[in-house]
Amino acid sequence: MARITASVYTSHVPAIGAAIDLKKTGEAYWQPLFKGYEYSKQWMKENTPDVIFLVYNDHATAFSLDMIPTFAIGTAAEFAPADEGWGPRPVPKVIGHPELASHIAQSVIQDDFDLTIVNKMDVDHGLTVPLSLMCGEPQAWPCAVIPFAVNVVQYPVPSGRRCFQLGQAIRRAVASYDDDLKVHIWGTGGMSHQLQGARAGLINAEWDNRFLDRLIDDPAGLSEMPHIDYVREAGSEGIELVMWLIARGAMADIDGGPRPTVKHRFFHVPASNTAVGHLILENN
Ligand code: DHB
Ligand code: FE
Repeated sequence: MARITASVYTSHVPAIGAAIDLKKTGEAYWQPLFKGYEYSKQWMKENTPDVIFLVYNDHATAFSLDMIPTFAIGTAAEFAPADEGWGPRPVPKVIGHPELASHIAQSVIQDDFDLTIVNKMDVDHGLTVPLSLMCGEPQAWPCAVIPFAVNVVQYPVPSGRRCFQLGQAIRRAVASYDDDLKVHIWGTGGMSHQLQGARAGLINAEWDNRFLDRLIDDPAGLSEMPHIDYVREAGSEGIELVMWLIARGAMADIDGGPRPTVKHRFFHVPASNTAVGHLILENN
């Protein structure tokens, strides 16, 4: 039986990818940010899963206003890093897990969550930057990755409650897979940031830290938070945080199991226009 052993939460700023690719991680601006992920990279080496179920958002890269799936699961054998305007990032291609992805699609759709199935897709910074932060710069990513794209770019976007319930369905899907696989689920994007308009540059560290507290201790209550609160308090792009509720909903305690252990918590401002938050929770 496959099982979810841990969940990881991290922001995904494109400039972090550029800092890594251009060898600037030791610069004064970036050093404190990357220091916060040193534990995480070691933890990843010691707790490498067979598969990462990576919840992220595409930024009008693979999708556009032409086609806007709310929830899209990547079932392909591989996914290339996308060209977002400066050429593709020089990172390994992402190796998928078509068998587990198809099983999860089957299970979750029969469980009433209507996913879009994606057999061909390039993956943007939303997916590759979290991998770089957690895995460093390997020749190949250490395990298979199932990309799971959520629309948080064009309204209407899914509610926190829907995301939290979807996480629970993903947990059931993984648990019903026959092979003995160790699976991580990652929730990415956020925390507070706004990239345009009169409030561009908004950061709300106090609200972000309260979000981290509640994600750990009160995820069901947090899942009831309406969109307007995210946008008012954390800026227009702060809505990316609803994706973290998918990962949190897939943890054992939500299903009556023991509470997870907080292995690591980190928060840092600034990284480009964004407050970077990061958590690692292990199932017990
Ligand atoms: C920034 C943050 C994002 O989440 C993103 O998708 C693009 C840019 C930024 O802070 O610059
Ligand atoms: Fe983003």
